[in-house]
Amino acid sequence: MNPARKRVAVLISGRGSNLQALIDATDQKGFPAEVALVISDRPDAQGLQRAERAGIARLVLVPKELGGRAAFEGALDEALREAGIDLICLAGFMRILGADFVARWQGRLINIHPSLLPAFPGLDTHQRALEAGVKLHGCSVHFVDAGVDSGPIIGQAAVPVLPDDDADGLADRVLAAEHRLYSRCLELICLDQVQLLGGGAKLAPAAATKSGALANPEPR
Ligand code: GAR
Repeated sequence: MNPARKRVAVLISGRGSNLQALIDATDQKGFPAEVALVISDRPDAQGLQRAERAGIARLVLVPKELGGRAAFEGALDEALREAGIDLICLAGFMRILGADFVARWQGRLINIHPSLLPAFPGLDTHQRALEAGVKLHGCSVHFVDAGVDSGPIIGQAAVPVLPDDDADGLADRVLAAEHRLYSRCLELICLDQVQLLGGGAKLAPAAATKSGALANPEPR
């Protein structure tokens, strides 16, 4: 094991295809991170099976069972610290984290969102993109701040909207782009080539990002 590898926790609520993409990327030789822990707020999340198959530690924390959001976020924080987690990736985690939790993990908490932010924050992004008539849709990876899908953008991938697209077809193509984008962003953060500076406002792009590595990245 390479001791310099960052320990990543992935938070999920469902299918876990982005989790799978991160597992596959971190399994590659030389990747500067490992998925050390998967946490779900739903016991039936399919992503938990993916983690099990990959031999990754799993934890289910259900806010209702713990007595609400504050208790949930306290337990979450404790579990992440106990596991020595360096960075948290939200991957289809369908819950808004509170300002205290976000502040504690500022610069070490990232999310993938299925739109070209700042367009279409929130839910139903593909249907809304179709209704708005945009010709380019896509996905974004961003640092999480106290707002909803509003933190500093790290990387984006654009996906053309085709004339006969429906929301499902568009979602499938965006999802494939998500899988490429998330692992690339994670890699560059772990290599310290992307940082959050100035109390949350600025990204510091280094050589790799200047060459466009965080816009429409190629498969690794
Ligand atoms: C992904 O499209 C992700 O971007 C989106 O949920 C899906 C999860 O799929 N996340 C959000 O909408 C968060 N606001 P997955 O479980 O297969 O990775």
